[in-house]
Amino acid sequence: MSETSQATESRSYPPPEDLAAQANVGPEVYEEAARDRLAFWESAARRLTWEREWDTALDWTNPPFAKWFVGGKLNVAYNCLDRHVEAGHGDQVAYHWEGEPGDTRTLTYADLKDEVCRAANALLELGVQAGDRVAIYLPMIPEAVISMLACARIGAVHMVVFGGFSADALASRITDAGAQVVITADGGYRRGAPSALKPAVDDAVSRTEGVRHVLVVKRTEQDVEWSEGRDLWWHDVVTKQSAEHTCEFFDAEHPLYIMYTSGTTAKPKGILHTSGGYLTQVAYTHWATFDLKPDRDVYWTAADVGWVTGHSYIVYGPLANRATSVMYEGTPETPHRGRWFELIQKYGVTILYTAPTVIRTFMKWGEDIPAGFDLSSLRLLGSVGEPINPEAWSWYHQHVGGGRCPIVDTWWQTETGGHMINPLPGVTSLVPGSAQVPFPGISAKVVDDEGNELSDDSTGLLVLTEPWPSMLRTIWGDDDRYVDTYWSRFGNMYFAGDGAKKDADGNIWLLGRVDDVMNVSGHRISTTEVESSLVGHPTVAEAAVVGASDPTTGQGIVAFVILRGNAEDSGDELVQQLKTHVAKDIGPIAKPRQIMVVQELPKTRSGKIMRRLLRDIAENRELGDVTTLTDSSVMNMIKDKLPAAP
Ligand code: WT7
Repeated sequence: MSETSQATESRSYPPPEDLAAQANVGPEVYEEAARDRLAFWESAARRLTWEREWDTALDWTNPPFAKWFVGGKLNVAYNCLDRHVEAGHGDQVAYHWEGEPGDTRTLTYADLKDEVCRAANALLELGVQAGDRVAIYLPMIPEAVISMLACARIGAVHMVVFGGFSADALASRITDAGAQVVITADGGYRRGAPSALKPAVDDAVSRTEGVRHVLVVKRTEQDVEWSEGRDLWWHDVVTKQSAEHTCEFFDAEHPLYIMYTSGTTAKPKGILHTSGGYLTQVAYTHWATFDLKPDRDVYWTAADVGWVTGHSYIVYGPLANRATSVMYEGTPETPHRGRWFELIQKYGVTILYTAPTVIRTFMKWGEDIPAGFDLSSLRLLGSVGEPINPEAWSWYHQHVGGGRCPIVDTWWQTETGGHMINPLPGVTSLVPGSAQVPFPGISAKVVDDEGNELSDDSTGLLVLTEPWPSMLRTIWGDDDRYVDTYWSRFGNMYFAGDGAKKDADGNIWLLGRVDDVMNVSGHRISTTEVESSLVGHPTVAEAAVVGASDPTTGQGIVAFVILRGNAEDSGDELVQQLKTHVAKDIGPIAKPRQIMVVQELPKTRSGKIMRRLLRDIAENRELGDVTTLTDSSVMNMIKDKLPAAP
């Protein structure tokens, strides 16, 4: 994405009249929230069912540790399921689930409630209590949602690890979270073949302490190793349980889940979300941003539940709003490149939410593919994960949305829990490439290094100036790191880690991360984490990793490595070995696009690697300022060694 294409973008798309006339929210929400932010969020909270209403909307007496809806009690799973069944909607479909091989399952709200109660009873039988952590490492199958809600129902804290992460990544997360039970499957289907999960769990659990049970869903029928006593089949333990479970109500601040995300160090951060405020904001934003009509829409977030997008907008937001959703297990190109469009046609999807990297992939495959399907059911499109460049925006608008569907570009983070900056489809005139304006009740600014507000198109840093209901409460087990990472830079403002600028119309343009975090296909990966994996390989002495812009994935990972004295540079073979090593260590998503073996790395006099210069090289740019280098000939040495760009 080039900044120039953003800067020259001047089209604006007003809301379609029919949508605006019937939209769930109109312009008044901005006024209401501006008049009284807390009262606004309180009315959003009243869309949920509380066993006891709160005494105080926000307790901010000990910043940055927020407490929302203090004194309130609710059950998150009850809000997602029971209350809809009790209101007579038990027969409504909650999920049209489709496996990659084409097998399907339809779960109504009544079915899902029964399954969740059975799983909750099973977890209780296994000794799981409120506050205990349960790791979930599953493919995109209904049991992933069922497990999450079963935890929520009994007050256990779920910690979902994306199925594409390695045994190492799983082990460190299990240890950090102190999980006692792991829920997994024999495997899942990816790219037309079964892909095993259980071996990674066996490996991970053998390196951790405290895991008492591994609950295994049978999905692919692959052979699995079995540890008697520890391992249990889901179909043995869960299926036999009663579908009755009377839920307990928990404090609004009861922990709901931990989700690990990459930071600027090699150790991922366990982002902690709690119950009442989180559910309030994800439910309200899901309803307002997507104009969700529970009786008419078929909603699809095409993402994995292993990421926050899945937590907030496949599971909690849609279920709290009684949405009918599509859930798909596999990849977009299996068995053919029209699979997603086929699913839209088959289920009559009205709202599609996905990431720019997928849109750019579809662009590469060509417009003939979506043109081969009936996509006329679509009425609204969403985007998340990185800035959507105007070219991709236009393609999505025209070739998927038929020129009639608004595109809501939503800026948010694992830490924010829910949408923070985005247009509202019945209100905002859309400007492609910008996430536009803070959601009602959210205070965002662009500031300079000293914290002074910028609103004249100059580049600065994005900050959030007031606490919000679905904000992270801390980093699991590390309050100091929470304060340091997000609140120490400006003291009283949340530092998001994104560069941004605000134009004269008040639109916010996101310009990518300003820290050592890469964004690859909408996934956050830390440069330091990849570097420490590389230096963990016996041949590598030193490594520097940068994110270089990539036409499809947003950024691609480019690594520069210095070999140990005794290591032999076997060229391609070594590079392949190193790539495989990182993929195994962290996960395939962290596999470098390119690895260059070099003699030296550019460093400042204080020994800091100058990633900026390496990025110039990785992106084939003229080198920037090299005057702070200890040895400016280093850059020429690196350039001389470069292979042709990929
Ligand atoms: C980072 C958060 C939000 C769920 C998926 C990613 C980038 C996210 C946008 C957007 C520009 C975006 C930011 C942010 N980002 N959405 N609409 N426009 N940038 O969650 O892994 O926590 O990553 O993704 O850089 O800080 P995440």
